[in-house]
This record gives sequence, C-alpha cells and structure tokens, in this order.
Amino acid sequence: MKKITIAIDGHSSTGKSTAAKELAKALNYIYVDTGAMYRAMTYFALKNGFFENDVLNETRLIQSLDDVDLSFEYDQSKEKSIILLNGENVENFIRQMDVANKVSYVAKIPEVRHKLVKIQQKIGEKGGLVMDGRDIGSVVFPEAELKIFMTATANERAKRRFNELKGSSSDLNFDEVLANVQERDLIDSSRETSPLIQTDDAVKLDNTNLTKEEQADVLLKLAMKQI
Ligand code: C5P
Repeated sequence: MKKITIAIDGHSSTGKSTAAKELAKALNYIYVDTGAMYRAMTYFALKNGFFENDVLNETRLIQSLDDVDLSFEYDQSKEKSIILLNGENVENFIRQMDVANKVSYVAKIPEVRHKLVKIQQKIGEKGGLVMDGRDIGSVVFPEAELKIFMTATANERAKRRFNELKGSSSDLNFDEVLANVQERDLIDSSRETSPLIQTDDAVKLDNTNLTKEEQADVLLKLAMKQI
C-alpha cells in the first residue's frame, strides 16, 4: 500500500490532535503534533524569562534558537508521543494556560517557524504520517496527498477545551478559555508568516455536530481513497 502524507490543519481546539492520532493509529502511520513544538518553544521562552512584563523579547528568543533541541519520544505505557525540550519531558507544562496564552506570539516569529518547519519536514520526508497544525498543508507539506481543514464553532471548541483542562486546573474559567481560543484564531489567521488558511485543495470538516466516532469514520474513508 502507498504511504501518503496527511495534513490536518484548522482552528484551535477542534480536536485535530485526537483525530490525527487515531487516524495514524488506524493506518499504522507516524503522528506528529506540531502544536506541541510551538508550545514547547513557548515554555522555553517563559522559563528563560524572555517574556518581560508579558511582552516577548523576540530578539532574545531568536538569539537562543540554537540552544533549543526538540524531539519526540514514544511512551509505550501511554501509547503516545511525548515532546522533549533539550531532553526533558515537558508534556505536562505545555498544555497549561500560561503557555496557551503566549504561544501564538511565539508562533508568529518567522525564525521560529523556519526552525520548526525544517524539523517537521525532516520527520515526514519518507511519508506515512499524519501531521496536525496550522500550516501543514500550506507550507510544511504543500504536496500532501490528503489535506483536511478542521473547524467547529468557537463556543463548542472552548467547551471541549474547558472540560479537558478543568481536572488539572482548579481556578479555570470558561470565559478565559473561550477568549484564548478566539484570540489564538485571530493571531494565527492574521499573522504575516504562514497564516492559518484553508488551501483550495483541502477538505473542510466542521465537527461541531459530529461525534468522535463519526469523524474518525469520515477521515479514514478520505484517507483510504488516496491510498
Ligand atoms: O495545535 P495547538 O493548539 O496545540 O497549537 C498551539 C499554537 O501553536 C497555535 O495556536 C498556533 O499559534 C501555533 N501553531 C502554529 N503552527 C502549527 C501548529 C501550531 O502556528 N503548525
């Protein structure tokens, strides 16, 4: 069977990662969560004090890019890939609101994108992967055989994110989560370098009213048509 490249892009909190992971598992493909890479970069910037009074000192981050090594390691027990920042497992830190609130500012920087896109292209050079993000079909793998653009209403997405995070954060507030989802959409779609767009050849999938199972079924059928 042909090993294809599947690009899944779309708005924040549309469930891209879960869907991409399941699809990769069904096809026995590699799954790459590029959002985790931008989040890990943001965690690095926060940890090193590159946000001064909440404003990112872009020069300091750009000057430190050579000190950042990002890689993935498969955790057998959790059946998922873990992101490593300079060898340290940072999974638990990168999903928190402090990172979510800052990540789009880090992801706007062309030098950051250049570095991460190169890593992503290297990981996927042999095909046989599902990669999710914002610019996978437009920039990272413009030749991908299947491109999906996932979306859902902002309210539905914030509801899902809120339910996911509330277990780990006691002072979580729904309006804050909704505002974060909307703000990230706006910054991601309006930035100059690789904005979030639906390419002409992408299949739009609005999952507001779809169950996970229905969505998985649609995705697998679309993939099988290309293989
Ligand atoms: O996918 P996730 O919500 O974890 O991504 C976090 C943020 O990383 C996005 O809001 C976006 O700013 C950035 N991102 C990006 N390009 C990608 C993946 C994520 O700009 N390919």
